[in-house]
Amino acid sequence: MKKISPSILDVPKEKLTEYVTQLITWGVNNVHYDVMDHIFVPNSALTFEEIKKIHVQCPAHIMDIHLMVKDIFKYYEMYKNIGNILTFHYEAMSQNELTELIARAKSDGVKLGIALKPNTPVEEIAPYLKHLDLVLIMSVEPGFGGQKFLDISYDKVKELKRLISKENTNTIIQIDGGVKQENIRYCFDSGVDLAVVGSYLVKNFSLETIENLLKN
Ligand code: DX5
Ligand code: ZN
Repeated sequence: MKKISPSILDVPKEKLTEYVTQLITWGVNNVHYDVMDHIFVPNSALTFEEIKKIHVQCPAHIMDIHLMVKDIFKYYEMYKNIGNILTFHYEAMSQNELTELIARAKSDGVKLGIALKPNTPVEEIAPYLKHLDLVLIMSVEPGFGGQKFLDISYDKVKELKRLISKENTNTIIQIDGGVKQENIRYCFDSGVDLAVVGSYLVKNFSLETIENLLKN
């Protein structure tokens, strides 16, 4: 089933708990949490304390944590007991580090995702697909909400879908960046399972918007 994972990056800090609780009340089960280190991307986002607070105060839901960070193992250790799925960037690590990350996640029972920036070909991730719970196709350069969706992303999703079918894995295809009403249908039709929706939903925050995003 096609789903959305709202990103709360552009929600005012004092409203975070309220926003997430409202989403869950409306039946949204996944929420996307952006973490930035000012090194891998030139920005910062949610802090560990903010995400921890939501984890403690909001009703249970799937916390998908998108870590745009260079020091992957430091952040892996910080978030492994909070997030339901941790997604790190392919470009932030060496092949050896990726192999080590996969091994750690497997032994800890942590669900692992790998994100690809717009210029990274999906073929690069092919050898690892069988070990990954999710692949995130970035449809904007990571770092900021509210950017324009890059149309090259549709072909990347289709190619990823083909590779996943070939490997016969259950890897979730996620897309993140610039998703809104006018393009979400093309994302789902291309093969996306879980679409991150950030600023569009923040600006049009209602159950009706969510229902329309998920309408066929
Ligand atoms: C950007 C983040 C996104 C961001 C999406 O680097 O990874 O999750 O919040 O926001 P929109 O949907 O506004 O592009
Ligand atoms: Zn994100």
